[in-house]
Amino acid sequence: MSGETVRKKLTIGYDETEYVCGKNAIEAENDEGTFIVSETISNIYPEKIKRFSEGKIIFVEDGENSKRIDNYEEVCRILMEREVERNSYLTYIGGGTIGDLSGFIASTYKRGLRLKAIPTTLLSQIDSSIGGKNGINFSGVKNAIGTFRNPERIVADTDFLMKNDQIIREGMAEIIKHGFSMDYTIIETLLNNDMESVKNGDILRDLIVKNADIKASVCNQDPYELLGRRYVLNFGHTVAHGIEAISRNSITHGAAVIYGIMYEMKMSEIYGMMKYDGISIMNKLMKRYGINKIEVSDEMLDGSLSYIMNDKKIRNGKITIPMATKPGMTNMAELKIEVFKELFLKAGRMM
Ligand SMILES: NC(=O)c1ccc[n+]([C@@H]2O[C@H](COP(=O)([O-])OP(=O)(O)OC[C@H]3O[C@@H](n4cnc5c(N)ncnc54)[C@H](O)[C@@H]3O)[C@@H](O)[C@H]2O)c1
Repeated sequence: MSGETVRKKLTIGYDETEYVCGKNAIEAENDEGTFIVSETISNIYPEKIKRFSEGKIIFVEDGENSKRIDNYEEVCRILMEREVERNSYLTYIGGGTIGDLSGFIASTYKRGLRLKAIPTTLLSQIDSSIGGKNGINFSGVKNAIGTFRNPERIVADTDFLMKNDQIIREGMAEIIKHGFSMDYTIIETLLNNDMESVKNGDILRDLIVKNADIKASVCNQDPYELLGRRYVLNFGHTVAHGIEAISRNSITHGAAVIYGIMYEMKMSEIYGMMKYDGISIMNKLMKRYGINKIEVSDEMLDGSLSYIMNDKKIRNGKITIPMATKPGMTNMAELKIEVFKELFLKAGRMM
């Protein structure tokens, strides 16, 4: 298996996605259709992009600011000018923001293009490219407009992760989330390795495939997010979303998720559900992989709590959050708002 590319099928509802992961996995991709390519990626990895005809590429800026309606319009305009036909291929090459924008274009332009994904961040390889959700931000609301559309093929080329460890740390937050909430062998693998050994071998590839599988199997239970089965993916994210929003995205998603996992573990401990010292294990992982703990002021915590209280996940005065219980397990807790607030405030004093 050493150095080999792994291929497998991911099933989500009626859709089957071919998932390909490995070093230089992009090599087998042909030049069919149109490509939406991150400008950043084309600057850092020109050798990866030059295999595709320049005339077929639409370069876009990336980052959260790219998920704008005028960007959507601009790309659709170019597709019209190039007379791109319905049902032809649209491939994106970039992180989760390019993926969200491209997925939305693929699902709406002429009622549908065939989507292929070449995600270039660890987060997008194991998380955002899987599950079908796409979207753009609108009227100050993140992902306010979007659809569900799964790519036919996802190519996770691990070379894209080699030049910047921060890209790995950001995505590792979601891997750690999966580990503590669904599969503790992931945490064991991370504890038995470090950044260098993860990168220099098949470990990173195997972690990516395992985590893509986990995300797909959760989404497969609830392809259109109607049954609440995807809640488990929210572990650490209730607090993380609050912190991110209050920081106006100056705190990155990955850093907020790491903080959120620890915070929600503390809440679970106070509530009496958590039966092991997950926080010490988190501290070990952070040290090992060079993940810094973010400083969150009392004012930010107050702001985050207000943000959470206005969140769409609150129904009938209750909030449902996954609480850590045993290694690799969470249970859903449906908490009255007053109980949630009390746990949140107590945990904040102990962080
Ligand atoms: N659709 C979903 O299910 C889903 C799930 C989770 C997150 N998301 C979305 O994904 C987005 C975050 O994705 P992301 O973390 O990939 O962010 P991103 O696309 O903004 O990329 C992060 C940064 O890394 C740069 N970059 C991309 N690939 C790189 C590489 N290989 N090497 C160096 N730099 C690289 C980008 O230029 C950007 O500045 C958010 O908009 C979030 O809402 C969607």
